[in-house]
Amino acid sequence: MAKNLKDLYIDFFISKGHKKLNSASIIPENDPTCLFNTAGMQPLIPYLMGEKHPLGTRLTNYQKCFRLTDLDEVGDKTHHTFFEMLGNWSLGDYFKKESISWSFEFLTKGLKIPVDKLAVTVFKGNDVVPPDNESAEIWESLGIPKERICFLAEEDNWWGPAGTVGPCGPDTEIFYFRSDEETPKNYDPNDKRWVEIWNNVFMQYEKQDDGTFTSLKQKNVDTGMGVERTTAILEHVDDNYKTSIWKDIIKKIESISNKSYENEEDARSMRIIADHIRAIVIISADDANIVPSNTDQGYILRRLIRRMIRYAKKLEIDINSEFDSEIAKMIIKQYEKYYPEVKKNKERILDVLVNEKNKFAHTLEKGLKEFVKITDILKRQNINSINGKTAFRLYDTFGFPIELTVEMAKEQNMDVDIEGFDTCFKEHQEKSRQGSVNKFKGGLSDHSESNIKYHTTTHLLHQALKDVLGNDVNQKGSNINAERLRFDFSYPTKLTEEQKKKVEDIVNQKISEELDVTCEEMSPEKAKEEGAIGLFDNKYGNIVKVYSIGNYSKEICGGPHVHNTRELGVFKIKKEEAVGAGIRRIKATLSN
Ligand code: SER
Repeated sequence: MAKNLKDLYIDFFISKGHKKLNSASIIPENDPTCLFNTAGMQPLIPYLMGEKHPLGTRLTNYQKCFRLTDLDEVGDKTHHTFFEMLGNWSLGDYFKKESISWSFEFLTKGLKIPVDKLAVTVFKGNDVVPPDNESAEIWESLGIPKERICFLAEEDNWWGPAGTVGPCGPDTEIFYFRSDEETPKNYDPNDKRWVEIWNNVFMQYEKQDDGTFTSLKQKNVDTGMGVERTTAILEHVDDNYKTSIWKDIIKKIESISNKSYENEEDARSMRIIADHIRAIVIISADDANIVPSNTDQGYILRRLIRRMIRYAKKLEIDINSEFDSEIAKMIIKQYEKYYPEVKKNKERILDVLVNEKNKFAHTLEKGLKEFVKITDILKRQNINSINGKTAFRLYDTFGFPIELTVEMAKEQNMDVDIEGFDTCFKEHQEKSRQGSVNKFKGGLSDHSESNIKYHTTTHLLHQALKDVLGNDVNQKGSNINAERLRFDFSYPTKLTEEQKKKVEDIVNQKISEELDVTCEEMSPEKAKEEGAIGLFDNKYGNIVKVYSIGNYSKEICGGPHVHNTRELGVFKIKKEEAVGAGIRRIKATLSN
């Protein structure tokens, strides 16, 4: 059914004049403040803010999303880390009437959900925005009775921004009555049998740094529907892991572990294993080239793999067997049709899994014994907190991510001195453990002047690296914040001082030439023919935007950029280092 839902959705919106967009990378581009895309709209932020999208003003897709905030909830029947979000967007094109009517048509005709099973909520208004009577009237005209149209406040009917600033607006949410009992006449927000299946956001505001709202250039629609939850509804089960998406995987874990999903405690472990292996497959398949590490997305990947292994151990699975690869292969098979990178990078996915497991497996056993020893001693002394030093030893010697120690401690009704752990960590390691917490601020909506400048500079740097090091140099990652750009690229060896100087000189030369930055739209084939640098193969459909900097650089890119290189200032490379086999990283700044 999962397959059908995705296909039905995309076909429906194509029939309403939308263009299908391929899922963007699971990592936001040029956005240091978000580790992962958490909603389908995130890669579209520049276009919601007014940039022109090469495919037009009506778009639809399924987007790879990952929510770290849900990690601790995974294990119940409804939560996932990785999930797919279906969406359709109007970029300053249609608004409430079409959006609501099409949602209604898709649900009742496309998915054949009886109207009697549906209810909706709309925004009741506040100081900034009036009550959304318009949406309520549209719903009523379609046949949703007044008693099932509920006006609610910001907590329920305001969406966004994705970070702390950016596009946002009032929304109308659609609920399904999941029960065999008779549908109550009135919608009741506290009745858990009503589950949300779709969210239509009328995105016409931008939240600013100071907390105020301004109107966006255009009125947009952003909708989101979770594939997993809606599939569960369509298949009449109240456990996402009992749907066709997961059924075979759970069965496989049952057979590997010789345990039953009917036992709730074992079921929890099975769901965690299933969820995490799927997330591991999708993250390591992504063209962003993420591998397990101690920072950022790599750290999350490491945590997922280690946590998954611990739960396999809980189920008494032989962790040295190939159980994880077997499950991963099933997931690859299931998703390769939808995400070409899953097929293309199959070997890499399996390598990541095996290598990281081997690293962890041989210390896990010892670490678990050590953990029992530690907690036994503490319990005898009536102490219910593991100190920072001990937690750090579990991390440093046995490879236990701190979150794993916290989770295991919790099972023993203990807590962990995380501050103490952090102090030890900082003492022992220079590298900060970014990435694990609190990185969900801001967004691509950061169209600040400095962000845009660094973006254009990144294009110059990319071309300059090709000039100096050869055409085989390719972008492997890019990340910008207010203070610097960071650029990862393929190159086997450390750059010499001379090479760095050359690159720097070229970029500064181009800045001083006061080159105009221009944008054209064309087919990807034509862009290639013209020698444009293409970053990700399957990102766009038939038309792409190509940004040129004078005659010097030509690159497929969504923008935005400065108008002329004279706006950029003086370029300086601050650091050049390795970040993986064959991948180098440059950090560079601009100054006036
Ligand atoms: N951005 C909204 C959400 O995540 C609708 O797509 O729910």
